[in-house]
Amino acid sequence: MGDELQIHKGLDGVYIAESTICKVDGAVGRLYYRGYSIGEIAENSTYEEVAYLLIHGRLPKAAELEEFSKRLKAERDLPAEVVRIIQQSAGKSDPMDILRTAVSYLSISDNEVKDQSYESNIRKSIRLISKISSIVAATGRIADGGVYVKPDSALSHSENFVYMLKGRKPTKEEIKPVEMMFMLQAEHSTNASTFAALVAGSTLADLYSAVTSGIAALKGPLHGGADEEALRMMYAIGDPSNTEQYINEALAGKKKIMGFGHRVYKAYDPRAKIIKEYLLTLQNSSSEEVRRLTEIALRGEKLMIDKLGASHGIWPNVDFFAGPVYISAGIKIDLFTPMFAASRIAGWCAHVLEYWEDNKLIRPLELYKGQIDLKYVPIDKR
Ligand code: SDX
Repeated sequence: MGDELQIHKGLDGVYIAESTICKVDGAVGRLYYRGYSIGEIAENSTYEEVAYLLIHGRLPKAAELEEFSKRLKAERDLPAEVVRIIQQSAGKSDPMDILRTAVSYLSISDNEVKDQSYESNIRKSIRLISKISSIVAATGRIADGGVYVKPDSALSHSENFVYMLKGRKPTKEEIKPVEMMFMLQAEHSTNASTFAALVAGSTLADLYSAVTSGIAALKGPLHGGADEEALRMMYAIGDPSNTEQYINEALAGKKKIMGFGHRVYKAYDPRAKIIKEYLLTLQNSSSEEVRRLTEIALRGEKLMIDKLGASHGIWPNVDFFAGPVYISAGIKIDLFTPMFAASRIAGWCAHVLEYWEDNKLIRPLELYKGQIDLKYVPIDKR
């Protein structure tokens, strides 16, 4: 094909905008939120502070963080109709479908949905950050046979998530992994779900519509759904001694090993390193199940890196070690991807609001390879 016309399948390597929100350095496996490395963030911050940083572009002063947290707490409770949607479908439908439906319903009950002012979009971002977390927790609890538990404004964002999920005050062993995963999955530049949100936002549809597009895209196993699939693979392997055979057979059958590989990282995903390190701290205190899953994960990691790491640039990504961590916190497998959404909502809002500052409709081309000027043939002549 002439060099002036190149198809960029999957928009691989295509830049669509300038941004100051997130740098993903794929060659060396580094990640920055507004200039702060993910290691610094994970070690020192909180999800509330990360959400503020992503949306407002700088770390908040104490009074600003207190005000932001207060506004988040005020938005945690869910409208009765949304609770009813969850009660009717939790345990029967995919929690990602419930989340997408509930967020669509939230837009119906928000009388400023069409207000495109910056202040209104900040208010809607705060509403979405808080309510998506409550929807996910309520879905998990009701699917488990519990009833909707109203939020507790005395608790932090992650503490309240666990409280609404379990119906009781959370332990620190439950809070730590949730807070860590919420911070690690909050933002990642123009990944598929953020790009989906930008496409919808670029038409000047409202923030709820953009976020609903993001939730829809995140569900797929090539993206946010990989955390659940990676754990399902570990359960299918069953015993650590089966790991090598299972993975070798999968690769021989041209199957993708979930939790490995990345469009941008051609080195170890820095988030996976942090999650793995945390998982290893659990080995003396966790259940036999978590220890077994960890052993399988470590053997799978070694095999995949030996076979496809340096040679093919296929390394563990954020999803690979997430499963055993969530299991250690008592989180059920079908809640993993909804929790990814409850974290990534901050990044989706930050990107859509930034893009709207210099909006341009996103409308790529495709190279038409079909016929033209065909003559219409009446049906009885075909
Ligand atoms: C997330 O983009 C983001 O930033 C996403 C994310 C975020 O925070 O938003 O980081 C979160 O989505 C992480 C990725 C989660 N997905 C998975 O773990 C699913 C498994 N991974 C693969 O499907 C794949 O690596 C992708 C989809 C993630 C990236 O794929 P690409 O860039 O489109 O590359 P490709 O599928 O064309 O693969 C290139 C080659 C192929 O071999 P060949 O056909 O050329 O011989 O690498 C192979 C692939 O088969 N390959 C794998 C593999 N990933 C790529 N082989 C086995 N197992 C894998 N996991």
